[in-house]
Amino acid sequence: MRSLLFVPGDSEKKLEKAPACGADVIIIDLEDAVAPAAKVKARGIVAEYLKSAMGSKIRFYVRVNALSTGLIDADLDAVIPGRPDGIMLPKSAGGADVIALGAKLAAREAISGLPEGSIKILPISTETTASIFDMGSYRGASARFEALTWGAEDLSAEVAAETNRMPDGNYTEPYRLARSLCLFAATAAEVTPIDTVFTNFRDGEGLKKESLAARRDGFLGKMVIHPDQVSVVNQIFTPTKESIVRAKAIIDAFAKSGVGVASLNGEMLDMLHVKYAERVLLRAKAAKII
Ligand code: COA
Ligand code: MG
Repeated sequence: MRSLLFVPGDSEKKLEKAPACGADVIIIDLEDAVAPAAKVKARGIVAEYLKSAMGSKIRFYVRVNALSTGLIDADLDAVIPGRPDGIMLPKSAGGADVIALGAKLAAREAISGLPEGSIKILPISTETTASIFDMGSYRGASARFEALTWGAEDLSAEVAAETNRMPDGNYTEPYRLARSLCLFAATAAEVTPIDTVFTNFRDGEGLKKESLAARRDGFLGKMVIHPDQVSVVNQIFTPTKESIVRAKAIIDAFAKSGVGVASLNGEMLDMLHVKYAERVLLRAKAAKII
């Protein structure tokens, strides 16, 4: 999953447009993008939409309302019969929330006659201050756990920050920490690290800069909110042919050497190179080009 496009669950027009936008994953939102008064209507729209989209090559996630809202059970009752590929859990407090959602999914999979464990989970971490202190708890939480992302907006609202970005567009220190913790928590849990949204959708250069920084640091994809953002993110997270060839050569050279160091075209290689090469191949697989 390179690009994950948010679509408000109560917008039939945007839902209809979404599959042609080129995103690897469509995240149908029942949370913040849907006003409280529109939640019931949105559930009905999403339920029908998922049924009509069954068999599509694109993957569909539904962002339900948080566990603490009292809305999540009705959200899941409505959407699970439509067999989404996964559920995005906002304001996740940690591994225990993934386990709690897994139990809710298991019951509904049984009711809908779906194989147990078929619906995956993608939590949004770092949306609450308390969740920051439980980032290590995601490790081993559930076999459904597929990817982890992070959020800066709800976190900055909770601490009543004046802003979460510097004048140059970079995140301020508290949100850089949240981003790093997400990257490490995802890697430790062996799930895909996904960078958060860049909400200024008319600023293509800003999106490019943030996506390149995410790729540099080890994220494998990025969430987006507008169709114009999809191609930028897809392009940045798709490795070039040359980098795939080099990654395979690094892995081969290491396998042949059988020791802790190897050489390739006069350059010394160590474990860092192998890890990076594996990451490139993971990205290539995610882009379905190998
Ligand atoms: N998915 C599918 N289609 C979308 C879309 C999306 N996320 N965002 C915009 N479009 C469509 C619009 O409907 C419009 O279609 P049209 O040309 O047929 O009229 C076209 O793309 C261009 O949209 P534009 O006019 O540039 O933007 P907008 O003002 O209509 O919408 C947003 C701006 C931010 C409201 C919209 O992009 C959006 O709803 N994004 C998702 C928000 C969300 O889910 N947030 C929750 C997570 S942070
Ligand atoms: Mg939010």
